[in-house]
Amino acid sequence: MIDVDRKIREYAEYINEKIDEYISSEKFSGRESCGLDVMLEAMAYSLKNGGKRIRPLLTLEFCRICGGDYEKAFPFALGAEMIHTYSLIHDDLPCMDDDDMRRGKPSSHKVFGEANALLAGDALLTYAFETVLSAPDMSGEKKAAAGLALAKAAGCSGMIAGQVMDLANEEKAAALEEIRATDRLKTGEMIKVSALMGCIAAGADEERIKAAEKYCECVGLAFQIVDDILDVTSDAETLGKPIGSDAQNGKSTYVSLLGLEKSAELANNLTVEAKSALDIFGDEGEFLSKLADKLLEREN
Ligand code: IPE
Ligand code: IPE
Ligand code: MG
Ligand code: MG
Ligand code: MG
Repeated sequence: MIDVDRKIREYAEYINEKIDEYISSEKFSGRESCGLDVMLEAMAYSLKNGGKRIRPLLTLEFCRICGGDYEKAFPFALGAEMIHTYSLIHDDLPCMDDDDMRRGKPSSHKVFGEANALLAGDALLTYAFETVLSAPDMSGEKKAAAGLALAKAAGCSGMIAGQVMDLANEEKAAALEEIRATDRLKTGEMIKVSALMGCIAAGADEERIKAAEKYCECVGLAFQIVDDILDVTSDAETLGKPIGSDAQNGKSTYVSLLGLEKSAELANNLTVEAKSALDIFGDEGEFLSKLADKLLEREN
């Protein structure tokens, strides 16, 4: 029996330790340094500032259960976390959700100002691709496949499209199908590509890739529904970010449309569906199965 909490903690510790190697002045020594210090500080402020590390964890674990060496997939995992972190920095800006707290500390724009927060996001986005494309232990073919998948998932037909729809939904009473499409893009795509890059790193076959995608589609939607529930039911200290942000911005969410109880039921059903997608992995899928439950029950 796997101790899921322990394994989540071990993965997070491993990821946090390795991040230090990538965000340091030594890493950038020899490069043009004018303006670099403040950017490195702002990038590190957000990237090293906690976070559950769910996306990089998915890259590493899917790599492992598909027969790969997860340590070699670390640059792919970090690429996903960098893009996720940038999306949070921008998501908190006054022109978007206008939230002043993130991961238990003041949001980037409160500390570094709006312009530097914008630039720190841009810097993390571009550094993500540099990191993926310079993975030392991956073939050129795998790096290209991972980079392309990441670009598609993060970009204007992926996460960005979802963020655009999310803002547009503030202006209207969105229908359930529109909220589903929004969440699939703004949250689901980055979760899915995180797993996919792990599969790519391991050289997984089509069947396993399909299973990973199915798992992530369900987990991704459930994840956003739980996020929307916590925005209503939690408190800022537990959550590490402001509560009531969605209502304040007039967001359409599953919760605003269906209420807390029905939303929780939906997240629960999606989690059951996610877990059934893991059958192909046999016993090796145990951790991911328990992880899906943990994400459903999470408090932050
Ligand atoms: C927050 O993601 C944004 C959503 C997609 C809901 P997480 O809840 O994974 O945030 P961190 O990385 O743990 O801070
Ligand atoms: C954000 O969704 C999804 C992103 C792509 C950043 P939310 O706006 O609900 O995320 P939080 O609640 O601010 O973390
Ligand atoms: Mg948002
Ligand atoms: Mg937000
Ligand atoms: Mg939210």
